[in-house]
Amino acid sequence: MEAKTVGVGIIGCGAISGIYLDNLTGRLPGARIVACADLEMARAEAVAQKYAGVRALGVDELLKDSAVSIVLNLTIPAAHYDVAMQAVKAGKHVYNEKPLTAELDDARKLMGAAADGALQVGCAPDTVLGAGIQTCRKLIDDGAIGRPVAATAFMMCHGHEGWHPNPFFYYQPGGGPLFDMGPYYLSALITLLGPVSRVCGSVRKSFETRTITADPHKGETIDVKVPTHTAAVLDFNAGAIGTLVTSFDVWSHNCPRIEIYGAEGSLSVPDPNTFGGPVRLRKPGGEWQDVELTHEYPENSRGLGVADMAAAIAHNRTPRASGAMAMHVLEIMHAVHIAARDEVYVKPQGGGIQPEAVPAGKTVDQWDGGE
Ligand SMILES: NC(=O)c1ccc[n+]([C@@H]2O[C@H](COP(=O)([O-])OP(=O)(O)OC[C@H]3O[C@@H](n4cnc5c(N)ncnc54)[C@H](O)[C@@H]3O)[C@@H](O)[C@H]2O)c1
Repeated sequence: MEAKTVGVGIIGCGAISGIYLDNLTGRLPGARIVACADLEMARAEAVAQKYAGVRALGVDELLKDSAVSIVLNLTIPAAHYDVAMQAVKAGKHVYNEKPLTAELDDARKLMGAAADGALQVGCAPDTVLGAGIQTCRKLIDDGAIGRPVAATAFMMCHGHEGWHPNPFFYYQPGGGPLFDMGPYYLSALITLLGPVSRVCGSVRKSFETRTITADPHKGETIDVKVPTHTAAVLDFNAGAIGTLVTSFDVWSHNCPRIEIYGAEGSLSVPDPNTFGGPVRLRKPGGEWQDVELTHEYPENSRGLGVADMAAAIAHNRTPRASGAMAMHVLEIMHAVHIAARDEVYVKPQGGGIQPEAVPAGKTVDQWDGGE
């Protein structure tokens, strides 16, 4: 391993782990997966067989392994807190898949423990560091649509029981459309418009059960424990008003994914669950125009946030896909549910941050000024 490469250990070798392994075993600079663990040892062993230089370990062994500096926590949402806290207690930096944790108090405890240990917390999604959203950020920062006044965001589908091999967690606390997909949309909106000052909303559960249609659990029934349609109004500190709808109850629709409306134009933002375009801009009196992407990483670069976190550790700065950002996202998602229950506006407590923009045309090893 090169001197500057940070060792990463995966805990949780399920569906999403493959793309992290593809990207963090040589493709992305600065961070490299050296070990993996799972409750199901066979899954970890299968990963080690496929990827040279990755060792299969027990969870406890991985947490003690001196080659692992960052624990990449790819477990299910209900396990995010326990696994992340174990990592921090073992003196490791930790990068969680989204959401940061299921419960807000747990996220606060995790962030506190990490701060006490001078450890970094990072969190997915890192799609916001890709070419599509960063091109949009540059357009807004450069004044292409003038002062942002409003945003709309829609993530609507009919759930994941038709394709995921183990879809139970999508309908348990920490799941549901807002906790599952909201982090992509909220992280994109915060990257583009800054933090949110207050939230209101409505939520509902349209179906009490779901029937799995994908193998290996085909035909089994899931009891739905969380709301599966949410509609929120988000007031941004800087003044724009956002509307966010997330749903596992909708078969089809024609709504855009994300649009930002400015005093001098409108911006069509790409799917925030991807890294690329299309980015489209429309000025008053004109037509929609495709905008060329100005940034690196238009392809699936999951793990980019981990590579940025490795650089952040080396440069003693906050990672862009940070725990603080994920904490703000988590506060907003809980605020939507609390606002709906109590019929009030709810203010996220933490204040929130807008992550630093990514420099145009540079790879992650150049984001801190290198050539
Ligand atoms: N599947 C996707 O398309 C996708 C996309 C983006 C993000 N995510 C996120 O990634 C995370 C994992 O999702 P997935 O689809 O890979 O789930 P999965 O169920 O396929 O995999 C999770 C793995 O974690 C292991 N695990 C669970 N608890 C553990 C523990 N305490 N210690 C060690 N291992 C444990 C399980 O045995 C399993 O192998 C979730 O947070 C999800 O929101 C998934």
